[in-house]
Amino acid sequence: MDPMSLLLQPPVFYPVVPYACTIFGGLQYGRMILIQGRVTSDAVRFQIDFQCGCSTRPRSDIAIHFNPRFSSSDAHVICNTLCRDKWLDEQKFSGFPLRRGNSFVLLFLFLADKVKVSISGQHFLDFSYRLPLRDVDTLGIYGDVSVKEVSFLSTNPYHAEMTEYPLCQPLKPGNSDLTLPLSRPLPMGLSEGQMILVRGLVTENPEEITFSLKSKNNTPFKLTASFKDNSLCYDYSMGQSWGEPQKIHTPFFVFP
Ligand code: GAL
Repeated sequence: MDPMSLLLQPPVFYPVVPYACTIFGGLQYGRMILIQGRVTSDAVRFQIDFQCGCSTRPRSDIAIHFNPRFSSSDAHVICNTLCRDKWLDEQKFSGFPLRRGNSFVLLFLFLADKVKVSISGQHFLDFSYRLPLRDVDTLGIYGDVSVKEVSFLSTNPYHAEMTEYPLCQPLKPGNSDLTLPLSRPLPMGLSEGQMILVRGLVTENPEEITFSLKSKNNTPFKLTASFKDNSLCYDYSMGQSWGEPQKIHTPFFVFP
């Protein structure tokens, strides 16, 4: 598996528009980008561009130009590709559900041959790539929009086939529900190949962090990260009565 598919890119909160940033590792099949924001109250248009570079002169190619327009009575989206400074044939998508002043959650799901876009949980459009997805390395947001958060997500990289939107929700910064100890049900259970990703910030003088999985038939798993002598070590135990901890030798990624 390409290790890039596991790379974590931190979310961006309240970026100032116009905004452009690098997409770590570029765009690949199975990546998702979630944008939470609001259309300004006097909006004419805004655009979210998935660009091949960030040059302005000459303009970088734009593999996917997603451009909501609000000036006619029929708010719509234009999608297009800019290739060597020329726009290709544009595609118009009517029935855009957003109006001036509306808040939204836009999800871009990048599949092998097309991007799927959902707006506040409802599928809205498919746009087939005309430039290779692997050339896209920059996200640009321009025009009449304010953005609260941009999240960079991956679908399960162990699952080869993926065509539908997975369940994903924006991260809520400062959400008091996330204070520890934290326990959440996994309503669909877990199956082979699934990943649980825990992202956090350790306190100033950490001692130990424990993650455990519990099930009805008592086959728990417990992982402990201990911070001793300025180093980090992991132990795990399995079974009903936790048993003797085992040292972990698999690489864990620690982002200081
Ligand atoms: C042009 C417009 C560009 C871009 C393009 C898409 O008319 O000036 O900004 O939106 O359409 O086809």
